[in-house]
Amino acid sequence: MSDQLIIFDTTMRDGEQSPGASMTRDEKIRIARVLEKMRVDVIEAGFPAASKGDHDAVRAVAKTIEDSTVCGLARAVRSDIDRAASAIEPAESGRIHTFLATSPIHMKEKLRMTPDEVLKQARWAVRYARQFTDNVEFSPEDAGRSEFDFLCRVVEAAVDAGATTVNIPDTVGYNVPEQFGNLIRRLRDNVPNSDKAVFSVHCHNDLGLAVANSLAAVLQGARQVESTINGLGERAGNASLEEIVMAVRTRRDVFPCDTRLDATQIVPASRLVAGITGFQVQPNKAVVGANAFAHESGIHQDGVIKSRETYEIMRAEDVGWSTNRMVLGKHSGRNAFKSRLRELEVEFASEEELNSAFARFKDLADKKHEIFDEDLQALITEREIEQVYERIKLAGMQVCSRTGETPVANVTLSMDGVEQSAQSPGDGAVDATFKAIDKIVENDAELKLFSVSAITGGTDAQGEVTVRLEKGGRVCNGLGADTDIVIASAKAYVMALNKLTVETRTHRGHPQRSQAI
Ligand code: KIV
Ligand code: ZN
Repeated sequence: MSDQLIIFDTTMRDGEQSPGASMTRDEKIRIARVLEKMRVDVIEAGFPAASKGDHDAVRAVAKTIEDSTVCGLARAVRSDIDRAASAIEPAESGRIHTFLATSPIHMKEKLRMTPDEVLKQARWAVRYARQFTDNVEFSPEDAGRSEFDFLCRVVEAAVDAGATTVNIPDTVGYNVPEQFGNLIRRLRDNVPNSDKAVFSVHCHNDLGLAVANSLAAVLQGARQVESTINGLGERAGNASLEEIVMAVRTRRDVFPCDTRLDATQIVPASRLVAGITGFQVQPNKAVVGANAFAHESGIHQDGVIKSRETYEIMRAEDVGWSTNRMVLGKHSGRNAFKSRLRELEVEFASEEELNSAFARFKDLADKKHEIFDEDLQALITEREIEQVYERIKLAGMQVCSRTGETPVANVTLSMDGVEQSAQSPGDGAVDATFKAIDKIVENDAELKLFSVSAITGGTDAQGEVTVRLEKGGRVCNGLGADTDIVIASAKAYVMALNKLTVETRTHRGHPQRSQAI
């Protein structure tokens, strides 16, 4: 049995199915680049049949990524498989992942198909997908609640038809670790051709057991785990990639396998996904939470100073936490700026781009004494985003806020190059600012989320704001960073508005909710 555990990331597919977590094509490319740098084996980039936008996003990822396999999801129907095949076609290494439910409740209530029809359809879908690629994954959806003998027959048929990976999903997060581990062992023991495919697992977190179930399966021979950054995903989410990877790596004495991942990319990936989706990470989240390596109690601090292993089982730097090193300041020159960014693997396409980023760095350094890597990353993120969404720009703003008085905001926006201003009172400085912006852009989108967090420590830290807007079924997230959180809020709001004007994916199909097969 292989000692490599294949890491399959589905942040951009199952993760994107979390309400409000939709990602644009460019955001998917940015996330995919970080995943590739992390050496994730398989990147499931989306569900191409959901809409043209989804198809194009998967295809763009397939064109960009060289070192990871790019995968597209498809229901077990011709049209979905055709779309997935077309989306992964430019990939160096592409995979089609097709699925069909096998539990009694899904077959009867959702598919309205008999078990024999499901068996036949599964076999057909895998065979059909194999016409486009040798790399086909099959998932019997809701395997965790399927009848064992029937599941064995479907898995055997899928492998026989050419599935190279068989993924066993606990779609509704119903299983418990011992049971789920046994399921994998029994499948491997009872399906006659089980040695011809890699067994994979895909666990949801409805009972908070997704990681435990996945690891129990690894102990019983699963050699691919499907997971997401920060545990993003449908409902309570999927197994969290960072927890799986670090559990296996930290407990080499327990697990007979390891991943090929560069774990130092975990924290940057977590931050990027949190910023893009607006799903912030809870402070006590394992591995990537702000407190994951913080020691509050005096006894713990004393222990860690004497010997780190007294209270730490992993090293913060091994998963990509930087030590908040002061990297640059007001007096740093253009070369120092450029070379630090190169160390962070940010390259500039032209001198003009470098100059404009450097000018922004100087503006920030005027306001903030110490500039950390996180500040530089936020600066670059902003640069990338502005390049894509340029219609509306924040040209200037002023907010007056006094104790006992209603705050008033004056905002100037540049709309397609023409400046317009408006003034508005509000219930607080941010509310006044958003209302002034609404007057200019005649916005009627609904604010779904407003969240603020500090990028680094200290009162001069930049605030990072996420805004989520919804209009006519479309949901867009905006991100803004500034040492002034009201300005950061305005930037985030403007970005979300810009995205609403650009983003065209209105009627997206949902792979698991759609009834028709
Ligand atoms: O949870 C699930 O069953 C899925 C499948 C599409 C693999 O996401
Ligand atoms: Zn799922």
